[in-house]
Amino acid sequence: MTELDSIVDAARAARAAFAQASTPAELENAKAQFTGKSGRITELMKGMGALSVEEKKTRGAAINQAKQAIEAALNARRQALAEAELELQLKAEALDVSLPGRMREPGGLHPVTLTLERIERIFASMGFDVADGPEVESDWHSFTSLNNPPNHPARSMQDTFYVDIKGDDGIPYNLRPHTSPMQVRYAHQHIKKHAELVKSGQAMPEIRVIAPGRTYRVDNDATHSPMFHQCEGLWLGENVSFKDLKVVFTEFCRRFFETDDLALRFRPSFFPFTEPSAEIDIQFAGGPLAGRWLEVAGSGQVHPNVVRNMGLDPEKSIGFAFGMGPDRLTMLRYGVNDLRLFFDGDIRFLRQFR
Ligand code: DAH
Repeated sequence: MTELDSIVDAARAARAAFAQASTPAELENAKAQFTGKSGRITELMKGMGALSVEEKKTRGAAINQAKQAIEAALNARRQALAEAELELQLKAEALDVSLPGRMREPGGLHPVTLTLERIERIFASMGFDVADGPEVESDWHSFTSLNNPPNHPARSMQDTFYVDIKGDDGIPYNLRPHTSPMQVRYAHQHIKKHAELVKSGQAMPEIRVIAPGRTYRVDNDATHSPMFHQCEGLWLGENVSFKDLKVVFTEFCRRFFETDDLALRFRPSFFPFTEPSAEIDIQFAGGPLAGRWLEVAGSGQVHPNVVRNMGLDPEKSIGFAFGMGPDRLTMLRYGVNDLRLFFDGDIRFLRQFR
């Protein structure tokens, strides 16, 4: 091979090597073999000094041409590789603008929350205060203060959760099995709040309160959940009677269910904290539940022992209490037949109340 042939060959070999390079790094490596310090072109330039002027001219021109050809091939390949890389990246990051977007649905209140708000609104309009209290409760508040002392058989009416914390009396705290402890708690707050008034010889205002909230029992089936809701009601004054309970509760039911075609029945029952006690049943005249008696609350005249535990004189303060189940009221109002649906968190169910 003549010198000139090998120059032409170098350019051809470079083009072939560049075409083989499939990444920018490979291409830069291939480039070094031709135009690098010990590359083929550099080798060809060595020894030029010993040549005649004429030879220098032709050889120099040939080398320059080869060099330019190599540079051009290199640039073309660089660009091709960069384009291929961009193409790949665009494919990988492709965005399908025809896909529907991820919508953010409007939120809504839980059906039981809607019921609690409804209960609060109706009772507030009848002059009742709305109170809130602890869910981890002392034994005294949950039972003893409500005329239900330790070892009394009425304690087995509720299968209670106990907590690993003992009160000052050495008895473990419990997850309140009902909202009834709020009767005594609220009465104490009420008396404290109006102490100045009483000291100055004025009469203390009546106690008229509801206390909605979460309650707990060892129960779990289609109509019982270990966590459920109750709403306590208490009205104590100088002369508050069963008649007032009937009026208040009838008014509440009519407004809650938005119908006057509704009958109430007070069925004699037993609760340690009331005497006499009654279970309140309601019956709709129309609709899918027409004709059936449905139990919605326990109630009664507050027991003198409970009034005493409130710090009041049962000869001067008399009245009624009731405890109802907002979960049950929600089921009746919306026609839900399984209580567990309320607490499963299934969005398809909850969405319906939005
Ligand atoms: N605490 C009772 C229960 O959980 C319900 C109840 C009954 C509350 C009668 C009352 C009442 O205030 O007077 O079963």
